[in-house]
Amino acid sequence: MAALTFELLAKCSVTKARAATLHLPHGPVPLPIFMPVATQASLKGLTPGQLEEQGCRLCLNNTYHLGLKPGQATLDAVGGAHKFQSWPHNLLTDSGGFQMVSLLKLAKVTEEGVRFLSPHDGSPMLLTPEHSISLQNSIGSDIIMQLDDVIATTSPDFARMQEAMDRSVRWLDRCIQAHKYPERQNLFCIIQGGLDLDLRRECTAQMVARDTPGIAIGGLSGGEAKDEYCKVVDTCTGLLPEKKPRYVMGVGYPEDLVVSVALGADMFDCVWPTRTARFGNAITARGVLNIRNAVYSEDFGPIEEGCQCTCCRRPEDGGLGITRAYIYHVTAKETAGAHLLTMHNVYYQLNLMKQARQAIIEDRYPGFVKGFFGKLYDEDK
Ligand code: GUN
Ligand code: ZN
Repeated sequence: MAALTFELLAKCSVTKARAATLHLPHGPVPLPIFMPVATQASLKGLTPGQLEEQGCRLCLNNTYHLGLKPGQATLDAVGGAHKFQSWPHNLLTDSGGFQMVSLLKLAKVTEEGVRFLSPHDGSPMLLTPEHSISLQNSIGSDIIMQLDDVIATTSPDFARMQEAMDRSVRWLDRCIQAHKYPERQNLFCIIQGGLDLDLRRECTAQMVARDTPGIAIGGLSGGEAKDEYCKVVDTCTGLLPEKKPRYVMGVGYPEDLVVSVALGADMFDCVWPTRTARFGNAITARGVLNIRNAVYSEDFGPIEEGCQCTCCRRPEDGGLGITRAYIYHVTAKETAGAHLLTMHNVYYQLNLMKQARQAIIEDRYPGFVKGFFGKLYDEDK
């Protein structure tokens, strides 16, 4: 059962890029899409209203964080995470295991689930596929993710990689069994298998056979070489049904989004755009600018000329008309600088995917990719 419809609008005649509309319980979402990450039911540096204003209609929460705080009882009492954080649009939750393994070095994976020590009081805890789904059912997210066994792609241990891949398939079966609301929450599987293309092919076949409403490609964005990353995405998308959304987890940089769309991926998430904003970095078509650099101290232009985000837009067009000099001035000491850069960076990523979608619809995606990289690597910028 699915609580979504995938409306395919156009396919690029040269690359594997697709444009679609994903109809979810909290409204339609244009694909391809970048999803900002609001780990603790709040995007660091933006209110839900400001996130909405930048055009976001689908953002991420994390099961692991929400399960600890506010906790399942509070989520049940308030009626889910949409109400809890006043977010009327769509939510996607990651299952939690990946965060525990990447955040808590002490997490240990067994067939039962992921064992770890509570960061609050050090008591032993166990996140099973059943418990992850139960938490995500209480959160009420529109897209929920299976618990998976994730190994760093750079791991040399083939046997462990194979075990993680097989275990992720078994855990998907347990997640499907445990899921209480398939009519209103969409469970996505996650393809594992590291950088081994045969493992990826086998895992893809196993996952596709389970017929989930959407499919994720996991275990990437862990520092692997770009050509290996591309081979994995290309191999997996080549084996996936055309009429289902494809989500590459943990990706990120504008270059990676543009390339991954050409390889047939539709959905992406990453903390980088919001995190890097807090270090004073602005994402622009000509690369990342650190606005803490003194060259911006008297630069009275916007972060990016022509940008339509709330921060850059002129006051006469309903924006704030913020200058680089202002951000330079406040960013060292005040959080306002981080908020403004977060607004701009989230808008940048959303708008990049919006432009890509339009290019696919007009069947000029190869030209769009050329233009994107031309600007990014332009010598005289
Ligand atoms: N976030 C980034 N990569 C992954 C992954 O492989 N699995 C999960 N659950 N989350 C991720
Ligand atoms: Zn802007």
